Amino acid sequence: MTATDALFQPLELGALTLPNRVLMAPLTRNRAHDDGTPWDEAAKYYSQRAGAGLIFTEATQISPEGKGYIKTPGIHDLQQIAAWKRIVDAVHAARGRIALQLWHVGRISHTSLQPDGQAPVAPSAVRANAKTFTHDGPTDVSAPRALETGEIQRVVQDYRHAAEAAKAAGFDAVEVHAANGYLIDQFLRDGSNQRTDGYGGSADNRTRFLDEVVSTVVEVWGADRVGVRLSPTGAFNDMHDSDPETTFGTAIDKLKRRDLAFLHVVEAFPGETPGDTEKSLLDRLHARWNGSGAYIANGGFDAASAADWIARGRADAVSFGRPFIANPDLAERLRRGAPLNEPDHETFYGGDQRGYTDYPALADAA
Ligand code: PHB
Repeated sequence: MTATDALFQPLELGALTLPNRVLMAPLTRNRAHDDGTPWDEAAKYYSQRAGAGLIFTEATQISPEGKGYIKTPGIHDLQQIAAWKRIVDAVHAARGRIALQLWHVGRISHTSLQPDGQAPVAPSAVRANAKTFTHDGPTDVSAPRALETGEIQRVVQDYRHAAEAAKAAGFDAVEVHAANGYLIDQFLRDGSNQRTDGYGGSADNRTRFLDEVVSTVVEVWGADRVGVRLSPTGAFNDMHDSDPETTFGTAIDKLKRRDLAFLHVVEAFPGETPGDTEKSLLDRLHARWNGSGAYIANGGFDAASAADWIARGRADAVSFGRPFIANPDLAERLRRGAPLNEPDHETFYGGDQRGYTDYPALADAA
């Protein structure tokens, strides 16, 4: 075995067989049309990256209310489904696999992006000290209104509708986005959830919305094509919790009962360096999940550290974000030990083909 061979062993991930363990993380690129239809160039972008063991799409809103940034795609109307189907078909033609990430931003939105200019919805009327990107540029998020207890099932049904739409588009799997301070994460953590009904208070109550969404998505897809993304130590989007071990331990215990294909954990977010407390918490949460579906680690890995984690059983696969922006053939480059292209931060969010589909693969560079 060479140092990185562990990355290139196939992996059974629920119903899918992945040819390698170098996965493409979900990456917001803000190039969809204003109505949430993905632009045509996305078929080229994703199919260029079909060498990933599995592609996760950029976060994709389940409903108009679930949108929080300009030019993010949706998966709730027929035009969006048709556009996603073209993308999925292109990835499959290039012999890849692609999972859609189901997203509702909750309070990380702005009235200018919401239907009828309404306030964004959240578990509680607690405004985040966070910014979003509107047509006027970076803007403080709006004050949200708390969802009524009786409204929560309507949001769960929006997840069902989007899960059905993702199935109609032909995706291989779906990921429920419960990380990074968006709606489900807002329910999970007590900094953003101050409810006094059955969805707030105890960890059992705060994990109820996640569990209801997951069980609904599983009804549509089957558990072996569903996974969840969590960020137990993340502070992005003004998130905090008084007892993350209990909160996320309870969440993981409930998810284990659903027999999911995978758990995808943001172990480090760009700009955050986990300390020893965070690292040991993540180790314990991994152990708590272990024995259930695949565990995908994300955040700040290179080929050597990813292979080391997999060889040690600390993860089954690793997802890469920024390296996949700049290296469409990242898996092949890691396999060969080839040099990597550097990502250009200026073209991460919004813009045109530049910084999107024009990074060269090795064959182009030769
Ligand atoms: C972002 O648009 O900045 C963004 C979206 C989804 C995430 C994280 C960041 O999970």
